[in-house]
Amino acid sequence: MEILKINGQNKLSGEVTLHGAKNSALPILCAAILVKGESVIHNCPDLSDVKTTLKILEDLGCTVNRQGDTVVIHAENITASKIDENVMRTMRSSILFLGALISRTGCASIYLPGGCDIGTRPVDMHIKALKSLGAVIKENGSSITCCAEHLTGAKIILPFASVGATENIMIAAAISKGRTTIINPAREPEICDLAEFLNKCGARIYGAGESTIEIEGVESLHSCEHKIIPDRILASTYMCACAVTGGEIVINDVRPTHLSPVFPVFNEMGCRLYLDRNSLRISAPKRLRRVKMIKTMPFPAFPTDSQSPVTAALSVAKGTSVIKENIFKNRFRFVSQLNRFGADIAVDEQMAVINGVKELHGADVYATDLRGGAALVIAGLTAQGTTTIHSIEHIDRGYAKLENNLEQLGADIKRIKYEEVSEKKCIEKETAT
Ligand code: UD1
Repeated sequence: MEILKINGQNKLSGEVTLHGAKNSALPILCAAILVKGESVIHNCPDLSDVKTTLKILEDLGCTVNRQGDTVVIHAENITASKIDENVMRTMRSSILFLGALISRTGCASIYLPGGCDIGTRPVDMHIKALKSLGAVIKENGSSITCCAEHLTGAKIILPFASVGATENIMIAAAISKGRTTIINPAREPEICDLAEFLNKCGARIYGAGESTIEIEGVESLHSCEHKIIPDRILASTYMCACAVTGGEIVINDVRPTHLSPVFPVFNEMGCRLYLDRNSLRISAPKRLRRVKMIKTMPFPAFPTDSQSPVTAALSVAKGTSVIKENIFKNRFRFVSQLNRFGADIAVDEQMAVINGVKELHGADVYATDLRGGAALVIAGLTAQGTTTIHSIEHIDRGYAKLENNLEQLGADIKRIKYEEVSEKKCIEKETAT
């Protein structure tokens, strides 16, 4: 068990470089199962969710090697088509193995996935779409078995532009008979990255990032090399960290078009943004200004994953901001922890009203989920005094060495092993008695 300790109010300055996008890495690693050869994946972030995915690949018979930020997967011999229930429970994206395994082995046996507790997260669209492609699916409680001799192209209309469902269909239909059309697919940059990886392997996917995706099924995929796009959610998290400390930092390796939905929000907060090729300089005012209204929506609108860190930033802005969360029902759970810092945020179902306070004070808090955990780090950076964040395993799912990078920017933030904390408490107790 580990905790983060932050002594707040250090102004951030300097440069930081983004790591690869978690939400690209996970589907691309799942899709590597389709390749009867070698997938060389560069810029693969070293996160706990990525580690879990690599472990699943090994359990299924792949050989996996990591050297720095490059991961090499050999998937010549897939020896299993079942994923352990406990592993499935740790990560929502494990559902993508359903499409990958049926396509590769003709059969898949998995369990309902877990992941962050940010609201009910059904997989009905995934199941319905795979059935349209010809898979026979049996659900028994939390277990799902899925079989198909081969998959056949179909027209699939998604009632909501689900990121995961779009990815599952793309992965499953890449090797299939005929043409698959996805109407109303998700258009996130990570969808385009997955399509680019699959196309480099010989798939024929057209229209990723647009309102219709066409997939001409092919017979097999071959080895390839691919570099994962930089993490846009990490970029917005660093922007919040800079914003709340009144700092000025440069974020390297950004893709401006991926961040265009968040730029207007930071401008409205009073931050100045300067783009120079793939670098973004952000300069924050002494005190942030409120943002009238933010609504989370599928790309190209404001991303739900940036909502929590931005909520934390707005908690110290001058004036009242309103955020409407339209993607996940339960994504304001972290707010009760944020209010422990002295923030004044009221939540009514999927709406948060944030009355900006002048200053937060350090608090002892628990990360409730990945991005909610990042919000607590942002609060700790601006708070007066010391903050302790527990349950940081949530944060480690999506941020690699976050504390080291923030420390490099001038933050006073340390990761402490829980044993050390307990030991220190014992010593303090002994000295006191
Ligand atoms: C992905 C991202 C996550 C991000 C989310 C929205 C990964 C690994 N995770 O999650 O970080 O917050 O996109 O941008 O890429 N839904 C259904 N039925 C389904 C599928 C989804 O009702 O079969 C609902 C979900 O409950 C949710 C909404 O659709 O309310 C969006 O979910 P989806 O876009 O599928 O998100 P994920 O792929 O789970």
